[in-house]
Formats: sequence, C-alpha cells, structure tokens
Amino acid sequence: MKDLKIDISKNTNISIDKLKQMILVTEYIYVSFICILILRQYKPDIGMEIYLPLFVVLIIAMAYCFVMYIFSDNFEKPGMIEMSFRLIYLFIVGWLLAISDNISVQIILVLPTILIALKYRLRYTIFIAIITSFIFLFVANFYRYYEYDYQFIFLVFIWMIGLLISSSMQYERQIRREKNELYEKNKLATIGEMVAGIAHEIRNPLTTIKGFVQLLENDKISEVSSKRKEYLSIIDNEIVRLNDLLNDLLQYTKPTQPHLIRNDIEKIINDSKIILDPHFINHKIEFSTNIAKDMPEIYCDYNQIKQVIINIVFNAIDAMEKSTRKCLKVETIYDLKYIYIKIKDTGVGMSREIAEKVYDPFFTTRNCGTGLGLSICYSIVHSHSGKINIKSELGKGTEFIICLPKV
Ligand SMILES: Nc1ncnc2c1ncn2[C@@H]1O[C@H](COP(=O)(O)OP(=O)(O)O)[C@@H](O)[C@H]1O
Ligand SMILES: [Mg+2]
Repeated sequence: MKDLKIDISKNTNISIDKLKQMILVTEYIYVSFICILILRQYKPDIGMEIYLPLFVVLIIAMAYCFVMYIFSDNFEKPGMIEMSFRLIYLFIVGWLLAISDNISVQIILVLPTILIALKYRLRYTIFIAIITSFIFLFVANFYRYYEYDYQFIFLVFIWMIGLLISSSMQYERQIRREKNELYEKNKLATIGEMVAGIAHEIRNPLTTIKGFVQLLENDKISEVSSKRKEYLSIIDNEIVRLNDLLNDLLQYTKPTQPHLIRNDIEKIINDSKIILDPHFINHKIEFSTNIAKDMPEIYCDYNQIKQVIINIVFNAIDAMEKSTRKCLKVETIYDLKYIYIKIKDTGVGMSREIAEKVYDPFFTTRNCGTGLGLSICYSIVHSHSGKINIKSELGKGTEFIICLPKV
C-alpha cells in the first residue's frame, strides 16, 4: 500500500501570480540574450540582417519560458523538469564562458541562482549555487585562467546574491502564510459561530417534535393503524438522524477541550467494540484485534478517542458494503514516543484525490453522509498532539493509523 501524504495548503494568491509573471519576463529576456550570444559566437559578422535568427531566438525563448511556466507550479520546490532545464542552461553558459571573452556571460551565470532564490526554499538555492560555483571554477581554471582573487570575488558574489534573495523571500513567504492562516482562522470562527447558533435553534423544536411523535406512537386511545405506525417510525428515525447530524455539527464547530487523563488504550478499544458489535453482526463483518503486549498508557480524553475509533470503524463498515471479504482489524503497536492504533478494512479503498480531501468538513462520497466524521477525528487527534495517516489502495482496502503520544 502506498503512503498518502495529506497536504491541506492552498495556493491561491494573487501576489504569487504576479511574482511568477515577473520571473517569466526576466527569464524571457535573459534567455533571448543568451541565444543571441550563441548565434554571435557562430556568426560574428552578423549585422542588422538578423531578423530570421532573432525570430528563431524568440521562438526558442518562448518555448523555454512556456515549459518553465507549466512546470513551476509548486512554490515549495522546483520539479525535476525545471531543475534539468536550469542545469542545461548552466552548462550552456559554462560552455560560452569557456569559449568567449564576454564579461556578461559571467554575470548571466548567476541567473539560475537568483531565480531559484526568488521562488523556492533555501536548500535549492544552495544546491544551484554549488553547481554554479563548480562550473565557474572549472571553466576559470581549465580554460581562462582568471586571477584567483577575481575568482574569489565572483564566487562570493554568486553566494551573497543567492542567500540574500533567498532569505528575504523566505521572510516574505512566512509573513504571507501567517496572514493567510489568520484570515482562514477568523473566517472559520465566524462561520462556526453561525452554524453552532443555527444548530442550537433547530435542536429545540426537534426535541419537541420527537416527544410528540413518541406520544402518538404510544397512543392507545386513538386507533393508530399499522401504516401510520410505520410512517411514525420513519419520522422517528429521521429525527434521530437529524439529531446526530446536529451533534456532529456542534462538535465540529465548537470542539471541546480534551479532558486528558491516564487511559488504557486496550480498554478504550474493547469498550468501542461493545458499541460496534451489533453492527459487525448485522453486516457480517469478521472483526479481530491484535493488541501489543504491555501497551503503555496514554494521556487522552476517553470519550473523544472512543469517538475517533467509532467514526473510523463506521466508515470502514460503509466502505465494505459490497466487498466479498469483510474483514476489519484493529491493531496497536508502540515505539519510544508514540502508540499507534491501526484500523484496517477490506473495503473499496480510495483514490489519492479522495484521500487528500477526506478531512475537509462536509466532504463525503456517500449519499446520506455528512462529511463531518473524519474532520472531527482530525481535530480530536490534533488536540491530543497526535497524527492520523491513511494508507489506501483502490479496490483493496484502507488503513487508518492514529498516532498518539505516550505518557
Ligand atoms: N475506510 C474507508 N474506505 C474508503 N473510503 C473512506 C473510508 N473512510 C472514509 N472514506 C471516505 O471519506 C469520506 C469522508 O468520511 P467522513 O468524514 O466520515 O464523512 P461521511 O462518512 O459522512 O461520508 C467518505 O465519504 C468516504 O469517501
Ligand atoms: Mg463517516
């Protein structure tokens, strides 16, 4: 089974787009420049009649920029194709450096370092700066025999410029990220309050309706026909469902602080099993547990962790609805710092796209799902300083791994 890393960062920022366009224009100009240099190397006598070569140069530059634009979507790290292009560029410039006297070639040797520094994390700037330095030293010592102090100054120039830009961009990105997070938090808090208010308001009349439905069901005086009884029980079931939804909503929007005390995870699993057993029997599911010997205790909120297990198991039961082999296994292991609860099913599994969204509130692929189960699990586990991981394969099954810190 392959590990699915869940990334919930969203990349929709106007200033990033502007930055991207600026970088594109810079690259465009520089690449045109370098193509002209290459042409001039071969045809030094080129005069004003360079329209055709210039056209070719522009086409090449546009193609290069197009490729760069398509493959540089990720602002955390450059892709393999982008990196290969930048390295090819470096080697062309290195080669030009070796065969020409043109001082501007040395300057454009720095370009990839600047561009990487503008766009990505520090480590990629350092990587490109090392390669650039290596190329320069190689050319300087094997072809050109520059003065040593000149080499030193130029190397310092490459490094200074890369590191300076990279660190200032890092700072810029940090500020932008913090601003975005604050904005998202505020937005969620406002929506949360509103939803919680509405949920409360709906719950009160619902309780009244439920009371009266029960009265009608038990009414011996008026003759309640069997059809009516059936309708009443449907209404009753739907009220229970609505009530569950409201509970989920309230829990999601107003998560309670976990009440952390020493707990035995085996007891929590066994207690959850008592609640889940009728469902296993109903759905003909083979259930097994494998609890590691001497499981250490953990600090956790008994009810909240039980809810996490139950939510995940309910999802697993749904996922195995059409499976021929219905096996559900709960396993626990531990290492020096954490305990791990693994819940593995033989259900439909999920694609990478779905796995990336399962913690989003209201994301569901089921007809009568609320899409809140896993977002509640996510916030509970995170409030316990833990993590949830998913391993899943379409058609084979899914494994949820809950990881919680030991006492
Ligand atoms: N064990 C599983 N196997 C396959 N898909 C799953 C599993 N658990 C969760 N999912 C997917 O995650 C979605 C969200 O789950 P959840 O947040 O509990 O909401 P709901 O159960 O209401 O749909 C489900 O609709 C389903 O597509
Ligand atoms: Mg669910």
